[in-house]
Amino acid sequence: MDPAARARELKELLEYHNYRYYVLDSPEISDTEWDKLFRELVEIEAAHPELKTPDSPTLTIGAPPVEGFPPAPHLVPMLSLDNAFGEDELRAFDERVRKGLGKSEIEYYAEYKFDGASISLIYDDGVLVRAATRGNGVVGEEITSNARTVRGIPLRLRGAVAGVVEIRGEVVMLKEVFAEINRKRIARGDQPFANPRNAAAGGLRQLDSALTAARKLNFFAYAQGAGPALAGSQSRLLERLKELGFAVRPEARICRGADELWGFVDATHRQRPTLPFGIDGVVAKVNSFVEQEELGFTARGPRWAIAVKFPAEEAFTLLRDVIWQVGRTGSITPVADLEPVQVGGVTVSRATLHNFGDLTRKDVRIGDTVIVRRAGDVIPEVVGALLEKRPADARVVEEPTQCPACATPVHREPDDAVAKCPNKHCPAQIVEKMVHFVGRGALDIEGLGPKQIERFIELGYLQDLPSIFQLPLHEKEIAEQEGFGEISAAKLVRSIEASKHPTLDRFLVGIGIPQVGVSTAKDLAQEFRSLEGLANATLERLVQVRDIGERTAAEIVEFFQEEENIEMLRAFQDLGVAPIEPEARAGNLFEGQTIVFTGSLESFKREQAEEFVRSQGGTPAGSVSKKTSFVVAGPGAGSKLQKAQELGVPVYDEQQFLEMLPEGSL
Ligand code: IVH
Repeated sequence: MDPAARARELKELLEYHNYRYYVLDSPEISDTEWDKLFRELVEIEAAHPELKTPDSPTLTIGAPPVEGFPPAPHLVPMLSLDNAFGEDELRAFDERVRKGLGKSEIEYYAEYKFDGASISLIYDDGVLVRAATRGNGVVGEEITSNARTVRGIPLRLRGAVAGVVEIRGEVVMLKEVFAEINRKRIARGDQPFANPRNAAAGGLRQLDSALTAARKLNFFAYAQGAGPALAGSQSRLLERLKELGFAVRPEARICRGADELWGFVDATHRQRPTLPFGIDGVVAKVNSFVEQEELGFTARGPRWAIAVKFPAEEAFTLLRDVIWQVGRTGSITPVADLEPVQVGGVTVSRATLHNFGDLTRKDVRIGDTVIVRRAGDVIPEVVGALLEKRPADARVVEEPTQCPACATPVHREPDDAVAKCPNKHCPAQIVEKMVHFVGRGALDIEGLGPKQIERFIELGYLQDLPSIFQLPLHEKEIAEQEGFGEISAAKLVRSIEASKHPTLDRFLVGIGIPQVGVSTAKDLAQEFRSLEGLANATLERLVQVRDIGERTAAEIVEFFQEEENIEMLRAFQDLGVAPIEPEARAGNLFEGQTIVFTGSLESFKREQAEEFVRSQGGTPAGSVSKKTSFVVAGPGAGSKLQKAQELGVPVYDEQQFLEMLPEGSL
């Protein structure tokens, strides 16, 4: 085939598969197959540079570095929104809107207020030709090559859209990506990012777009700027944007009146910690564009929208002491012992200080009044100290020379930020390895926390990870332990038995392969399907997996070569611990969410829907609790629906649920 025709074909294929992957969350081919197509296109473009067009999918991994960002005047100013704190201010907004429109009830569209960086995307005849940051709202910075690397931004719109159209939305960094990138930065001695928003905004302003690509950013669309209107209402606009190839969050919904709006705000506030990205509130918009126009703007922003903000997640408190903690890999890191303080609705008395370098850089001293931040479910951290409040006797923190747990002299590699305890048998490391293995992100064994683990080690029941599965042999003795009893011992045994078949990605997280966090483990599980497949993977094979670099690949190979690890995996196998191999990858639309179906459902069978939820990383459940993400209720729904309403859990009908799914899923 002639190279131009093949390049066109490859572009279309890659565009289609990117759409399935990033927008519909429902890929049809494996990463390796995708990679093959991608590399074929890279090769054609290298041989025929004239075929490299501005919408080429090869631009999604970066373009040559630039010298700076030219100013980018906005076609229509990017305004900001008025804020409402709490229910009263939201009701006052509703009253103003009702007055303005002379109506007794308004139809609103309620969306997440994403905590990221807003950008503007200009398409000309369907091709992305310019991306710009918000800047001062009138002029931004041109960041087109960087935007091309962000997931959820189509380089070309699906379907014909003639002329110029501008789409706006927010660039965010997912919490799991943030955690993983920060972990790596801390290990390298780099300063960790303060929060996902800064990491996203900074990522957009990289001169080398390959660095932007490495931040794995996501975009969610929520508005149109310039161009002929794509729809007559906000709800319809978002549907159109999804059809055009943009990632759009499925949770947004129509709310009639202030009661329904407040219900959405309240439910969203509760869901906030479980969301995969940060939000700092809800944006309520008058749904009809005709009505929006009628209301118009003030100097500050639109009269037809408001940002309902969640309470701040920062607080000031006293740093009482610094405790040195030994992690599962032996890293010795400082933890702040704080005067307990309320942050974002929970009491915090411990917060991370990352590492010694970071602590010195921030010049935090014992006795200081410090700023503590808790962003969603990210671990609380000390952001800095208030110098004006520093007492004369504030104490400078010194780094320990011995492991606080086993007194072995600490060791520090020349380019490492953290000192380590080199003792492989250090009791603290063993406990931490186990705590990690049974923790929420890994095997999630209920009833087995740090205290129990320490006690069982003392009693000689636990020595290594596999021995956890031999705890049931000690059920009788455990029942006699203080704080236990027959019922809780039996419960513990049950949860250990139930955890013998974790998903492969959780198992990989649990065994602690260096450099492999939650998101890498997912990529690996999807790609290799089995523990054996991964254990036998070569370096060359591993680096082909999307998002896996050489360092991670090398760590994985090394891990599966170490005799000790081989023995551990064999022991797991002998004890009947067998990770579940992933089915053909479906997606992660419902990642981490718990969903309850109730009442009679008409257009699909409940089993079918539950199966789909599972295939998208969610958990279907039989009863409603505070942990339920949302309920899908059909006619005749009874007590479960009532419970959901009492708890403020969002309830959707069958139609609304279907709208969340890619077309034809059920
Ligand atoms: S609509 C006329 N929708 O919030 C204003 N903004 O304070 C149109 N934001 O700069 C903005 N999520 O960065 C809109 N669902 C959402 C949003 C959202 C986050 C940000 C945006 C804007 C700021 C307004």
